[in-house]
Amino acid sequence: MSSSTQTGGVPVLILKEGSNRSRGKDAQHTNIAAAKIVAESVRTSLGPKGMDKMLVDNFGDVTITSDGRTILDEMDVQQPAAKMMVEVAKTQDNEAGDGTTSAVIIAGELLNKAEELTSKNVHPTIIIDGYKKAAEKALETIEKIAMPVDLKTQDSLKGAAVTSMASKLVAEHKEYLADIVVKAMLQIAEKENGTYKVDIDDVKVEKKNGESVKETALIRGIVLDKEIVQSGMPKRVEKAKIALLDTSLEIEKTEFDAKLNIENPAQMEAFLNQEEKMLKDMADKIEKAGVTFVVCQKGIDDMVQHFLSRKGIAAVRRAKKSDMEKLSKATGGRIITRIDDIKPADLGYADLVEERKIGNDKMTFIEGCKNPKSVTILIRGGTQRTTAEAERSIHDALMVVKDIIQEPKIVAGGGAPELEISKALKAYAGTLTGKEQLAVKAFAESMEAIAVTLAENAGMNPIDVLSELRTRHAKGETWAGVGVLEGKVQDMYKIGVLEPITVKKQIIKSATEAASMILKIDDVIAAGKMRAPPTPPGGAPGGGYPGMGEY
Ligand SMILES: Nc1ncnc2c1ncn2[C@@H]1O[C@H](COP(=O)(O)OP(=O)(O)OP(=O)(O)O)[C@@H](O)[C@H]1O
Ligand SMILES: [Mg+2]
Repeated sequence: MSSSTQTGGVPVLILKEGSNRSRGKDAQHTNIAAAKIVAESVRTSLGPKGMDKMLVDNFGDVTITSDGRTILDEMDVQQPAAKMMVEVAKTQDNEAGDGTTSAVIIAGELLNKAEELTSKNVHPTIIIDGYKKAAEKALETIEKIAMPVDLKTQDSLKGAAVTSMASKLVAEHKEYLADIVVKAMLQIAEKENGTYKVDIDDVKVEKKNGESVKETALIRGIVLDKEIVQSGMPKRVEKAKIALLDTSLEIEKTEFDAKLNIENPAQMEAFLNQEEKMLKDMADKIEKAGVTFVVCQKGIDDMVQHFLSRKGIAAVRRAKKSDMEKLSKATGGRIITRIDDIKPADLGYADLVEERKIGNDKMTFIEGCKNPKSVTILIRGGTQRTTAEAERSIHDALMVVKDIIQEPKIVAGGGAPELEISKALKAYAGTLTGKEQLAVKAFAESMEAIAVTLAENAGMNPIDVLSELRTRHAKGETWAGVGVLEGKVQDMYKIGVLEPITVKKQIIKSATEAASMILKIDDVIAAGKMRAPPTPPGGAPGGGYPGMGEY
């Protein structure tokens, strides 16, 4: 570790004082060690028998989860290579929505094996090249073994949604929730020249504490976390004609201070009358267009509320912009920006608009829409922690269903596809020579980490399980995997453990990319902290990132 060199006895400093530098094997070793710690920390949460983590943030807020990305996000990791592992989870989550824990575990294993190879003097560049070739082969293999899905039968979609939730806190209700998720996604899917496109943002997910997870419901429309604005308005409107207004129902205040000269009471009254007339006009125009329910993105003047209420028209104000767009997709209404422009053809429709008390709050349900292209899942659950974890699990399930709708191919899980890949890679390694062969073999072995970890977490003997799996795959049992619920090796396809090919492909891509990136680094230069906090008594001196340099 040095950031200076000697020329004629005079040290040349090129880095700022307080900078930290580690290089060569030192840097690699530190980075790999840090990345492995990250992988180790999520290992025990893989699979249906995995454990949950309780994470406490700076404010004492508690999160209970087994979701890889959430665990790593909450851990607030500092070491740069460890941070790259957290990025793996993020990429995985954004691209595929599920498989974050697996991606991190495999990346960790790739680095573990790489370290063994470097200690045998295999250069990181050769390892990286070998890993790259292996990853390509792995992707080919997964394409080969994947099975096409017929979207008309919902079985595979539901199977995959169930599998993604099997490893979560809400597993008890996985069948019920999977049904909701699949129905929601198929409702919003849009066909575009032969293929389907889905945007999970079209499924609004609201959560409210109370009742239990099995009271979670799918609403064919939108639920707004808002109450009807005035108590005199109807709380229930059937066959609602809905105006979506992106304009305020108020008299715009001028930007300048206008001075008003009012000299007698008559003038005052005229002025007030004029204002009242303008506000009444607004309500009249709304009524004339046949509107029975107004959703306003901005404010609604008390006076307008009063007039609307007298006409029996209900209204909600200050709706979020994102909700307005969803309402438009759900009800078929157009977002109106000028009151003068309201036309009956622009109005949306819902069988029922109703304000209901959910838990301690009032919410407005706009439901029974005709072929809504945006729907709502209203999550219920005993405690805030349950609803939060239910929301994360439903997110995973929505993403998994989206993956299959967009790329209709599935594989079975439980470590089976990873074993097939491992088998193919070992055969492939046989065709290579030299050190590259070692790298491909290392990749093959790393893939087995999923089955090993699933077995470990289920309290099975990982060595026995792995050798049985290898034998059965060698015999051509493609879907032999770790049946963690029954504690034995089983055909995962037969027991319905299904996963989208998208998730598995992304795991390979994200894990390889992260491992290569970390392996490629042989020099870590960290600027000194901007302003080092005072060193606590007995504490380590500041500067650089924790775990670096001092290693
Ligand atoms: N019933 C089951 N038997 C065996 N394995 C299962 C079963 N259900 C799911 N799995 C496996 O569990 C693994 C997924 O576990 P988990 O959901 O905890 O992690 P992840 O999907 O990698 O990451 P995350 O869900 O945290 O983003 C997959 O390999 C899947 O095939
Ligand atoms: Mg998962």
